[in-house]
Amino acid sequence: MKLRDWILILMAVLALAADLPARASQAVAASGGVLASGVHSDRLAWQHFAAIVAPASRGRVEFETWAADEDIYSETPAWPGPAAQAARRLRASVLRRLLAPHGAESAAGESDCGVVANAAAGNFPVQSGRAGQVPCFAEEVRRNRATYRYIVQNQLNTQAGLAAAYQKAQGGWRVSLPEDAVQVKADWVPFDTLAAWLARNGVRQNPAQLREAFYTTLVEGRRYALVAMHVSSKDAPNWVWASFEHRFNPGRCDTMGCNDSYGATRRRIAPLGGAQNRQYAGCAKTAALKKLFEVKRVAAAWDNYCLKASEIAFTARDGAPLMHGNSFTERVGAGIPLTRSSCISCHASAGFGRDGSPYTKQLTAFPMGTVKLPADIVANDFIWGILTINALPVEQASTPHNLDRTRITARR
Ligand code: HEC
Repeated sequence: MKLRDWILILMAVLALAADLPARASQAVAASGGVLASGVHSDRLAWQHFAAIVAPASRGRVEFETWAADEDIYSETPAWPGPAAQAARRLRASVLRRLLAPHGAESAAGESDCGVVANAAAGNFPVQSGRAGQVPCFAEEVRRNRATYRYIVQNQLNTQAGLAAAYQKAQGGWRVSLPEDAVQVKADWVPFDTLAAWLARNGVRQNPAQLREAFYTTLVEGRRYALVAMHVSSKDAPNWVWASFEHRFNPGRCDTMGCNDSYGATRRRIAPLGGAQNRQYAGCAKTAALKKLFEVKRVAAAWDNYCLKASEIAFTARDGAPLMHGNSFTERVGAGIPLTRSSCISCHASAGFGRDGSPYTKQLTAFPMGTVKLPADIVANDFIWGILTINALPVEQASTPHNLDRTRITARR
């Protein structure tokens, strides 16, 4: 062998050695996987998505008829009927408020639509053309009937109920949702803000074209466009974590790329180097997904939503923590860098203490990789909705509730 070859081999070995410790600690992008049932999580994610956005009654899609946190986490839970659906409200991000309790509050008079935590990350507008209207976003969390039933029947919807569940857990009982549980977190941007945001990020579409390209809804007289949707489904003991993004979301595949082995003809899109928040190619649908949409009679606007990735494990095979986050929901809305975002890890840290109050210590440190809860905390089966419990019996609240000073889910 020539000296040059030896040098090349030596360089390769050195590069590998230098890379090893970095790989063990540096997060890598999640890309789902095959579950015990033999089905790939990307496929399951799309099956849920198609069912979630299928047309329902009164011009709504299916998930919009499910129970919102406000219908569940109260002393008087009720599955929403037509009246509750008509009185629909959105809310400022609970996660953002939790992470920045003393930070910027929602714009005056816009308690349901709050400012984003990190506008710069997504080049989101901070000033709007219209007087008195600050660019904002709004969220809603909805759970299907199986989830609703389990939470309410086990009284996991009030602090007193959680305190009782804590006692039951000392006898070996565990919070464990049924296999057909599905939950959705949707992120909405007011239509005028959306148009301004996209215009400053290279999307050349007029308002009429945007109206067609997005799923929009009217809430309290204001039109909102759906930019992102999280889905968690109990298809596996640690759930399946999927996130969907509108194809126009600036920087959609930045940092972690996009991975979809089922619904997109291009299965993997690598993150663009250099400038952030550029436009990625759309996610042309595979024949299998087109067929699924057709069967469910899914409206055309939904063709513009892409699966970012699904996540079913805490770490990659080599032990590196997996990252998974939405370019809007986590990165911009909540201000969590994607390299510090892992759906499964952050949700695994959801639990409650003896007095039934939520345990948030690990959540606020953005847990990555495997998560272990302290011995005096009961796991809430990856569900964070307990943060919205605010009807606290005073005698129970021995430690101040995290969010009790904010009117997050107060019925109005
Ligand atoms: C750093 C923590 C964190 C990360 C990372 C995170 N979430 Fe969440 N998630 C929360 C919190 C807190 C809530 C409840 C408050 C709210 O609605 O914002 C929540 C709510 C949800 C809900 C509503 C059901 C529930 O648990 O109450 C879903 C579904 C969800 N997240 C999915 C995801 C998915 C999918 C990802 C990854 C793409 C993700 N989350 C990443 C903290 C996190």
